[in-house]
Amino acid sequence: MFIDIICGARPNFIKISPIIREIDLLKKKSALKFSYRIVHTGQHYNKSMSSSFFEELGIPQPHINLSIKSGSHAEQTSGIMIKYEKLLNANKPSLCLVVGDVNSTLACSLVAKKFNIKIAHVEAGLRSGDMQMPEEINRIVTDSISDYFFTTSIHANKNLLLEGKSKSQIFFVGNTMIDTLIYFKNKLVKPKIFKKCKLVKNDYFVLTLHRPLNVDKKSNFKKILDQISLNSGSKKIVYPAHPRTSENLHKMRLQKNIIVTNPMSYLEFLYLIKNSAAVITDSGGITEETTYLKIPCLTIRENTERPETVILGSNILIGNNFIKLKKYLSKINKKKWKKSEVPKKWDGKTSKRIVKVISKLLQNNV
Ligand code: UD1
Repeated sequence: MFIDIICGARPNFIKISPIIREIDLLKKKSALKFSYRIVHTGQHYNKSMSSSFFEELGIPQPHINLSIKSGSHAEQTSGIMIKYEKLLNANKPSLCLVVGDVNSTLACSLVAKKFNIKIAHVEAGLRSGDMQMPEEINRIVTDSISDYFFTTSIHANKNLLLEGKSKSQIFFVGNTMIDTLIYFKNKLVKPKIFKKCKLVKNDYFVLTLHRPLNVDKKSNFKKILDQISLNSGSKKIVYPAHPRTSENLHKMRLQKNIIVTNPMSYLEFLYLIKNSAAVITDSGGITEETTYLKIPCLTIRENTERPETVILGSNILIGNNFIKLKKYLSKINKKKWKKSEVPKKWDGKTSKRIVKVISKLLQNNV
């Protein structure tokens, strides 16, 4: 008996790694009756976006790589669907485990469901209410056909209940991304840029922007970067840029204190965040990491699917409001920030809980 573990994009690799470690651990003790097949869709394929994560996080080589690479949403989603369907025709798992909200999550869920394979969704129930984000569509559609929901917060539980899911399908387990962070927090790697650019602990910002709404229109992208730079005090801003931003960035004349680097490995990037004064981002996952590390975080989005990072955590939504941006950057420069807490069950034991539930489900023939 085996389950499929689906991954395709950078944040997926971080989320599956502790689940696989837990399964391997229990298998070694002969305490588990199922194994797994890692299916990498190939949505992310560069070394820096994919294989460096497998190496650093100790994830075994994928059993299958669908090698889909880049394309439009329809091309990517349908391409994955066709290839995953062929795979399932040859060999069907007892359960399909999907994580997060990327195109790979949606594509594989759709295919598995039509083979009557039960779907378990890790990080289910997140809702931003913003249908302009492809991830929101992916979340809603994936959850609409999933059978079991592993959630990171009480807000996600509420969303699922409101959408008519039954309590018995929802498992509030915590956050696998935080499992990974806790497991690796004493093994972080100082990036070369630290010495090269003479970065000083707690005296620089980390910036990540890759959402189409922020970066695809060059004039808008440039305005955001200029405003961040203008209000950063004397601090340097390190920007490990996602590939989709590279073309626009190369054509831009940036302010001097913005240091653009290639995407970093997981252990380097976490080192960079952990030692920064603050993070400015449009990523969702990073707001969870900064919440756990209690690092101030400004989110360049109007909404979030992770409200606990704002209500309890260290995150503040800035959107495109540059007055707000100035105000909060000034607070950070004066070392004033709200007191924050780590949400319940973000304790490093989430994957243990997930594997325990899966094991029970499989024993009862799901
Ligand atoms: C995807 C996810 C997003 C997630 C992000 C994390 C969807 C809808 N979006 O967005 O939720 O936050 O991953 O990184 O699934 N590219 C490369 N090399 C790679 C991967 C991508 O050069 O290894 C470039 C390609 O030009 C590609 C572009 O980046 O067209 C965008 O990649 P894609 O996978 O389509 O979406 P992301 O923006 O990475």
